[in-house]
Amino acid sequence: MRKELIAGNWKMNKTCQQTRQYFEEMLPGIDCEGRDVVICPTYLSLKDAVEATAKTNVKIGAQNMHYEESGAFTGEVSAEMLKEAGVQFVIIGHSERRTYYAETNESVNKKVKKALLSELTPIVCVGENLDQRQKGETFDFVREQIEKSLEGINDERLVVAYEPIWAIGTGVTATSEQAEEVCEFIRGVLGEKCKENSEKIRILYGGSVNASNIKELMSCKDIDGVLVGGASLKSDFVKIVNYE
Ligand code: PGA
Repeated sequence: MRKELIAGNWKMNKTCQQTRQYFEEMLPGIDCEGRDVVICPTYLSLKDAVEATAKTNVKIGAQNMHYEESGAFTGEVSAEMLKEAGVQFVIIGHSERRTYYAETNESVNKKVKKALLSELTPIVCVGENLDQRQKGETFDFVREQIEKSLEGINDERLVVAYEPIWAIGTGVTATSEQAEEVCEFIRGVLGEKCKENSEKIRILYGGSVNASNIKELMSCKDIDGVLVGGASLKSDFVKIVNYE
């Protein structure tokens, strides 16, 4: 009943020209039947991406947004600006934003609320680092991230991405058992918070997803999709989206 969602996070990659070229090359191969496919380029490439995908089922997302409507926030972009550009999704609280730009559960919470109010679908990222995993703190840490980031929020449009930091960009993918164990746990925590909506909320796995591990990850009961970094920049993404 939950529609599969395959999202690509380009991070700080691809110019506008490279964005247009990517879609020219990739779009003919992408078969979105029955799946949501979302690409998240940089802010500057959003309009090109929206234009390039206008006549397709591929949707465009941003990698961040501010929770205020406007004002003195140098370098920031609002939900309204994203909507005007034709954006439908927004990644919120990616571990790189939390690590390098001091994003907190509290700011994530404000952003998620604003995104939902603005009819943008938020993809909220959580996940432990290697030290926390080795110390057995994964579940407590992820619970705290979910409870604080989603405080006061109960909405079936939410998307949660479980991205263990030790698997991001490292080539070390969580095994499907490790990924499912935490995604199942997340659904349980969502069940306490969001009751029946927890069965409708989509949970993604992210961290070194590629064309070889997509099928096994997607076979897990509580994994409804993936958030793909590195592999979304290459032709591999077509294989990931079209996995069978
Ligand atoms: P990766 O990145 O696929 O390159 O590991 C995932 C992410 O950061 O969303």
